[in-house]
Amino acid sequence: MTKKTGTPSATGISIEVTAKPAAPVTADLLALPLNSKDLKKIAPDALKALGIDASVLNDFKAGAGEITVAYRAATGKRASRVALLGIGEAASNDDFRKAAEALSRKAGELHCGIVVMDCAGIGEWAKHAKRTPEYLAGVIVEGIVYGSYRFDRLKSGKLDKEKKKTADEKPKSIAKLVLAGCSGYASEVEKGANAGLVTGTCQNVSRDLVNLPGNYLSAEDLAEAARQAGKRGGFDVTVFDRKKITELGMGGLLSVNKGSEQPPTFTIMDYRPEGKVRKTVALVGKGITFDSGGISIKPSAGMDEMKSDMAGAACVIGVLEAVAKLGVPLRVVGVVPATDNMPAGSAMKPGDIITTMSGVTVEVGNTDAEGRLILADALTYAKREFDPDVIIDLATLTGACIVALGMKVAGLFSNDDDLAEGIYKSGQAAGEKVWRLPLWDEYAEQIKSDVADVSNTGSKGAGTITAAKFLENFVEGHKRWAHIDIAGPAFAARGGGAVSGGSGFGVRLLVDLLKSWA
Ligand code: BES
Ligand code: MN
Ligand code: ZN
Repeated sequence: MTKKTGTPSATGISIEVTAKPAAPVTADLLALPLNSKDLKKIAPDALKALGIDASVLNDFKAGAGEITVAYRAATGKRASRVALLGIGEAASNDDFRKAAEALSRKAGELHCGIVVMDCAGIGEWAKHAKRTPEYLAGVIVEGIVYGSYRFDRLKSGKLDKEKKKTADEKPKSIAKLVLAGCSGYASEVEKGANAGLVTGTCQNVSRDLVNLPGNYLSAEDLAEAARQAGKRGGFDVTVFDRKKITELGMGGLLSVNKGSEQPPTFTIMDYRPEGKVRKTVALVGKGITFDSGGISIKPSAGMDEMKSDMAGAACVIGVLEAVAKLGVPLRVVGVVPATDNMPAGSAMKPGDIITTMSGVTVEVGNTDAEGRLILADALTYAKREFDPDVIIDLATLTGACIVALGMKVAGLFSNDDDLAEGIYKSGQAAGEKVWRLPLWDEYAEQIKSDVADVSNTGSKGAGTITAAKFLENFVEGHKRWAHIDIAGPAFAARGGGAVSGGSGFGVRLLVDLLKSWA
């Protein structure tokens, strides 16, 4: 173990739900959600009631996530700062998610620790968005928690001269959120808000793991993070060490680990709900703590981003903690094979032929196609050990997926149409979109090997699909398997958007999916 990874960055938001109106609540910032359709009709009166001049509306269109801050005079303890918060047409989860994230970020910028949001419209919003107030409250709180995240725990602040002192005393993100004006819906909103707080917080735990660089997060550290999640969530965690991994014959994981200075780990998280279990779901996550490419070494530009190559594993850990805390009535098993992928004299070489746990032999065409080698063993293990009803794996598997679908959307594969449909729908609801690609046998031709059962590298083209075809060999005929290639959306490079670093992609999607099966 290297340095200690510290505590997760954003877990400290408290939430209060009240039927009372928002305006009189003691706060640093009052958020007034406004929709673009009847902005002209409603906003002038609402602002007048707060003593704010309607001219602030001149440049405000109420697009989802748009914010204008205005001030009311002499308010005593009540918030003098008012954020006009655009919720667009208030027609979709995305509108509310965007608004909540933007509000949360703005509150951070303005050092507002206590924020009150006027939710008097939540009944109407819910109707319009075809969701329940409970669901919408969950979306809003997830957005607030997501927007409050910052990865600054490795900043000492020592080089920040003047500015630092004053800023330090003030809150850097929301500490308390009051959802006010929930008359008639308070208990529903409270339920949804609590669930949103769990999912959002677990997603931020996942982002923290993705953001931790290779020197802070080894395979053993990742296993330890799973143990900690197990303690917080109340589920069992077992970690196999090199000896056990060798006994089990996990040749994929061992081969990738050959160039490493640090041992591999294989972590099993097992959440069993109280009562009778109706369904067992296995989630498998790629846990490459740093991917240099190995002997088939990557170009240096952007190689640092490969600290995020364990995002699949981070997602699985986050989902396990969330479903355990939410008490979802399914057995959910998380499986995380972990190592870094390094070049060394001892490293796996192109041309090597390795034997995976399944007995299937693999010719290593390229040592940079390492993810599928460790996933092969993990899929075999998950299938054989747990006989799950459903297997879903998540992996930052191919650069080709970024070529095909870009940075915002994940690639989806499944041998079951209903499963694919469910994942697609949850992705839409959660604002984590996936798009399905085919598993046609034509693509299997490309990964044939002359000297082993299969090659880990495909001939030219369709790199995302050939990777999925490779994995298919290791689910051993399982009928409900899905593979999600999150290479694009798992991590945003600096300057790549409003939020850089780990996204926690997949946590909300999978929590939504698992809840829908409950
Ligand atoms: N971890 C990478 C895929 C990746 C690339 C994720 C960029 C996120 C951003 C994976 O291990 C890899 O290197 N894949 C190779 C496969 C190839 C050698 C067949 C790739 O995509 O180039
Ligand atoms: Mn690689
Ligand atoms: Zn990789």
